[in-house]
Amino acid sequence: MPTAVRSHAKINLGLGIGAPRPDGFHALVTVYQTLELHDTVTVSARPARATALSLTSNDPRVPTDQRNTAWKMVFLALEKLGVTAEVEVHIEKRLPVQGGLGAGSANAVAALVGLEPELGIVGKDHAFSTFGRKAPEGWGAQQRDWRARRLEVAAQVGSDVPLFLIGGTVLGLDRGQEVYPLPDLESIWCVVALPETGVSTPQAFRDWDALCAAEGLTAEASTDKLKMLSRAYASAFAGTQQTGSSGVVSTGDDLAGPQGFALVRTGIMSWIENDFERVVFAQHPSLREIKRILFGTGTPEAALYASLSGSGSALFGLYQTRGDAEAACARLQSAGVQSQLTKTLPRTVYWREMLL
Ligand code: C5P
Repeated sequence: MPTAVRSHAKINLGLGIGAPRPDGFHALVTVYQTLELHDTVTVSARPARATALSLTSNDPRVPTDQRNTAWKMVFLALEKLGVTAEVEVHIEKRLPVQGGLGAGSANAVAALVGLEPELGIVGKDHAFSTFGRKAPEGWGAQQRDWRARRLEVAAQVGSDVPLFLIGGTVLGLDRGQEVYPLPDLESIWCVVALPETGVSTPQAFRDWDALCAAEGLTAEASTDKLKMLSRAYASAFAGTQQTGSSGVVSTGDDLAGPQGFALVRTGIMSWIENDFERVVFAQHPSLREIKRILFGTGTPEAALYASLSGSGSALFGLYQTRGDAEAACARLQSAGVQSQLTKTLPRTVYWREMLL
């Protein structure tokens, strides 16, 4: 029986970027948040003498070869597990193929989460979450070991892949692949705006590099900036929770209850920014205008918060009520901008409902 898995989108509630590093990457401090919006990934697999993968999608824009992150994930996971298998993966696209929502990275994790029960690494009765649950009775050493190693495998596939092995509200550090669970935001209404404009992430990073050079932002200064930002996020999101000396919240199993809504409402998020806006809005002024429409400042249905997600071009707004979110969709429609109404997805629900 094939295993079907929900593959959720993410937004970035904030994104601080450092100066370019010698390895070609940029240090980041970000807060990822998973959304209810999702694709469906179906996996069937059986052990075989040699590994063979067949990848299909209902959307012709999805690459069905080694360019696909789900493809990379399946091959890498099988290699690391020391297993050869015949695998079929089907990606049913419901999410827009739009930058900033992490859809391709989520597809990679969904392919892995589907592959695991197919290969008998874990039973079909529960999702094999990296975070939050004790290893089930009867797990062998290899399975326990795999549970820790899959985060490294995800990081090899892409910088924003590991976050989908945590889900909910997630602090991302280093190049975005070093992930820590934050206390969940209570589910909030969210509108995702989907402009026709495309944004190239490598170009956005190059524009950021030019900005750093122009403003004289050195590697040392940006390290200090990001360290402070990491501490600020950890304490804002963690509330009364203990934080370690690194400023990162504990990754223990017991998280405080949802408090994010209060956090947004009381304006703590007013200082949270996405650094990409500085370069992406300069290149694509229409996106700045869409952020303004999402905010709806001065209307009774104004957003609690609105921002570019990742390097875009997707943007999002967070709203107190469904009515406020619907009003934002209507404002966007009047401006000729497509949008989707959704909610933020807490970690517990993310894992509970991952397997279909
Ligand atoms: O890790 P991923 O494959 O998603 O990264 C794609 C590209 O984005 C990298 O080659 C790099 O140019 C850029 N990037 C970066 N800093 C990051 C993440 C990505 O410069 N933290």
